[in-house]
Amino acid sequence: MVSKLTAVVAVFVLCLMVVAAEHPGHDALCPSTEMTSGPPIADTLVTSHLTVDGSGIELCSMEYRVPAKATMYQGMLAASQQHGNSFKFESEAHPMWGHFVSSINDVGSEGGFYWFIFDKDTLKTTPVGVDFIDIADNSSYIWHYSNSSQPNTTYSGPCVGSSVIPPPMPLTFKVGYLSVSSANTDLFAVCKQPVLLPTTPTTVYALVDLANDQIPLFVQAVLHAPQKTVTSLDGLANDDRYAWTGYRAGSNEKIPYDLSLTAISDGDHIEFRYDERSEPMIPADNGDLCPGEELTSGPTITDTLVTSYLSVDGGGTVQCSMKYRVPAKSTVYQGMLAASQQHGNGFEFESTLYAKFGHFITSINSVAPMGGSYWLIFDDVTKMLTPVGVDSIHVKNGSSYIWHYTNDTGHNVTYRGPCVGSSFIPPTIPLTYKVVYLTISGANVHQTTNDTFKRVCKQTVLIPSKETSVFRLLEIANSQIPITVKAELDLQGSSVRSFNGVSMRRSYRWIGFKAGMDGPIPYDLSMSTVTDGDHIEFRYEEVEIVTGPRGGASSAGQSVALVTLAVLLVNVVTSL
Ligand SMILES: *[C@@H]1O[C@H](CO)[C@@H](O)[C@H](O)[C@H]1NC(C)=O
Ligand SMILES: *[C@@H]1O[C@H](CO)[C@@H](O)[C@H](O)[C@H]1NC(C)=O
Ligand SMILES: *[C@@H]1O[C@H](CO)[C@@H](O)[C@H](O)[C@H]1NC(C)=O
Ligand SMILES: *[C@@H]1O[C@H](CO)[C@@H](O)[C@H](O)[C@H]1NC(C)=O
Ligand SMILES: *[C@@H]1O[C@H](CO)[C@@H](O)[C@H](O)[C@H]1NC(C)=O
Ligand SMILES: *[C@@H]1O[C@H](CO)[C@@H](O)[C@H](O)[C@H]1NC(C)=O
Ligand SMILES: *[C@@H]1O[C@H](CO)[C@@H](O)[C@H](O)[C@H]1NC(C)=O
Repeated sequence: MVSKLTAVVAVFVLCLMVVAAEHPGHDALCPSTEMTSGPPIADTLVTSHLTVDGSGIELCSMEYRVPAKATMYQGMLAASQQHGNSFKFESEAHPMWGHFVSSINDVGSEGGFYWFIFDKDTLKTTPVGVDFIDIADNSSYIWHYSNSSQPNTTYSGPCVGSSVIPPPMPLTFKVGYLSVSSANTDLFAVCKQPVLLPTTPTTVYALVDLANDQIPLFVQAVLHAPQKTVTSLDGLANDDRYAWTGYRAGSNEKIPYDLSLTAISDGDHIEFRYDERSEPMIPADNGDLCPGEELTSGPTITDTLVTSYLSVDGGGTVQCSMKYRVPAKSTVYQGMLAASQQHGNGFEFESTLYAKFGHFITSINSVAPMGGSYWLIFDDVTKMLTPVGVDSIHVKNGSSYIWHYTNDTGHNVTYRGPCVGSSFIPPTIPLTYKVVYLTISGANVHQTTNDTFKRVCKQTVLIPSKETSVFRLLEIANSQIPITVKAELDLQGSSVRSFNGVSMRRSYRWIGFKAGMDGPIPYDLSMSTVTDGDHIEFRYEEVEIVTGPRGGASSAGQSVALVTLAVLLVNVVTSL
């Protein structure tokens, strides 16, 4: 166990060295001499060598052909194609660190052993990962399976200075080139990166899709599969004024937004520019805005309460018709929170939150699913199982639901237990929640931004009396009404990154307001307090941005990526 942890830490240290290295080939603008099509693959090939040594495998200096400027990862794809069954590998890609080779010829990381890559000229470990190395003519690399590699270890296996294994098969790729212009953006340009393509008929859509896989450090494209368009490149999404537009490199010949309409032949070069749309999109006004009468603060919780009932029957407990008070329009899940608060020990429950499906009730009064029995929820009016979950049903004045612990999970089950027509149990504790309302406006959010976005109008959120900030409001909304609100939060800056799938973009941010008012609240949402009956509205607003390469945003991006890696590593460590 301890040695495995050490190895993970060693890999982590190597990762950090990778981070410190510059991305190769990133410039402000591409030299115009590169903005040409061609050469075809045959005119650009160099010869390189790859060695695999470890776990009983000894393949010294496999020769292969690959386009100049290809990355080591692409070289491995080419080597694998030309050496067939003798050399295959698997890898995992990380958006910032690129590909990690996880197995070679079915030998994966095990017992503290990992695949490390050495430069055969120096016999030293390479300080960077496979996506950071450009293949040059006659370059030669060694994959060595080892449990003791540190930065600067020297390779001393059997493959030093040995003879060459010629490729049994000819190269069967063609090459397409991809550039991403930095004009109108604060990105670095990507200049004429080769992408290996199958020799079968291929379109620009496949070029971009394969670039995502082959050169993730240069190209991270979000593709819209049904429309075959690109909606975002390297973190910058299309908006109502600007869109990523493909060109034949070096010309003003635009290609259609539907990338599957443009075929790619060997040596073709496509450049994407973030262009002003020729026809600006007309902001849609079909229901983007919440009704004006809803954009007010209040009522406070006491002015909105209705009375509702909840029964629990099963696992040795029968608690029929516990009466409780809850704001009108709450979900049954929120009703259960309110009932639990007002009935103390009489009603306690636990739930699991699934990103897609919302809350599942996992135990009530300490009774958990066992032996084929589950907690099912019945509508007291129809006595039928409710067809949807607790986040999708809303309480009404007088509504009553029954939790029944049963092994009869057919779809047409009827409740016939002791809680039919019984008298009610009054609450033992007064309601202590306050209510705060949340609106997420759809104005300026268009289909191109995210076609799954749903606006939110004056949604009720129950806030424990001691909680006071807008930031906590969003954290609580995420866990209380997960079907309606999905806020991606920045815990360090106490700010919001995205609502319901719509992130900040080049010149748009989510800005908070007291509903219906004009003055924005600070980005740091922990600085604004909420009191009973307050209503916070988030609007997607155009903001001034500072241009120049990477602006001020890159350090934030890096720390996010670091956190992500830390999380990945924690997952690796806990699964050992
Ligand atoms: C690569 O090796 C070949 C054969 O040894 C040699 O002819 C060629 O000049 C070398 N190329 C470079 C760039 O060193
Ligand atoms: C590496 O593996 C070898 C052979 O399995 C073993 O003898 C050695 O102790 C290991 N070294 C470390 C640092 O774990
Ligand atoms: C790597 O080794 C060389 C000499 O072998 C030395 O000069 C250099 O400082 C070492 N680098 C690190 C990071 O240890
Ligand atoms: C809820 O129903 C009760 C009984 O029917 C009624 O007295 C009360 O006024 C209703 N409350 C609201 C807020 O509609
Ligand atoms: C369901 O539970 C009842 C009563 O506890 C029992 O008689 C019955 O066999 C169970 N049915 C199944 C399918 O387990
Ligand atoms: C459900 O059960 C009720 C009576 O319990 C019956 O009238 C009805 O036809 C059933 N529906 C289905 C779809 O089986
Ligand atoms: C749109 O939103 C969904 C769900 O919130 C998210 O999974 C998806 O990645 C988003 N798509 C884009 C293009 O941002």
